[in-house]
Amino acid sequence: MIIAIDGPAAAGKGTLARRIAAALGLPYLDTGLLYRAVGRRVLDAGNDPANVAAATAAARALTEADFQRSDLRGPEADKAASQVASIPAVRAALLDFQRHYGTQKGAVLDGRDIGTIIFPNADVKLFVTASLEARTQRRYAEILGRGEHVSIEAVRADLAARDDADRTRAAAPLIQASDATLLDTSTMNADEAFAKALSLVKQKTI
Ligand code: DC
Repeated sequence: MIIAIDGPAAAGKGTLARRIAAALGLPYLDTGLLYRAVGRRVLDAGNDPANVAAATAAARALTEADFQRSDLRGPEADKAASQVASIPAVRAALLDFQRHYGTQKGAVLDGRDIGTIIFPNADVKLFVTASLEARTQRRYAEILGRGEHVSIEAVRADLAARDDADRTRAAAPLIQASDATLLDTSTMNADEAFAKALSLVKQKTI
C-alpha cells in the first residue's frame, strides 16, 4: 500500500505521516530530507544551491550518512532545499530512490509531488494544508522549542516565500492531485488531525 501525503511547509505532514505509518505498520519516508541533504552538501562544498551542475552532482552523490546529519533543519537548510528542489535534474536523480523505497513493502511518503509525480497511482492521497497563520504559529513554537531565537515575522515571511517558490516552480510544483483528499488542519491539534487522517485512509482502503 502506498499512502501519499503532500502539502505546504509546516502543515504537519511529517507528524501525520509518521503516525499513520506506525498505525499501519508501514515504512515512512520524509522526502523533504532528500532535498535538504542535497542542499546541505552543496553549501558544504561552498557552492550556490541554485547552481544546477553543483546541485545535480550533489543529488547523484547522496549517501545514507547525508540523512543522519543534525543540521538538515533550520532557515539555511530550508532555503537551500527549496532552491535545489526547483532543479529538474536534481528531482530526476532522486526519483528512482523514492519509487524503489515505496515498492519494497509499501510506504507512507510525505512531500510535495508524491501523489502527482512519484506515485500517481497511490492507494491513498492526502493533501494536508493549514492557513499561513496556523503554520507560522506551529513553526515558531517548534523553533523556540529547539532553544533557538527568531522573530515570528521572519518565520511568516520564510514560509510565504517557500510556499511561493514551491508552488510556482516549473518542475513538479506543489499542487493538490485531482484525486487527493484535502485535509485542512488549521483548527485541529495534532491528535485531531491524526484521527481525521487515519479515518480518511481507512475509508479509502477498506
Ligand atoms: O517538506 P520539507 O519542508 O522538509 O521540504 C523541504 C523542501 O524540499 C521544500 O521547500 C520543497 C522541497 N520538496 C520537494 O520539492 N518535493 C518533495 N517531495 C519534498 C520536498
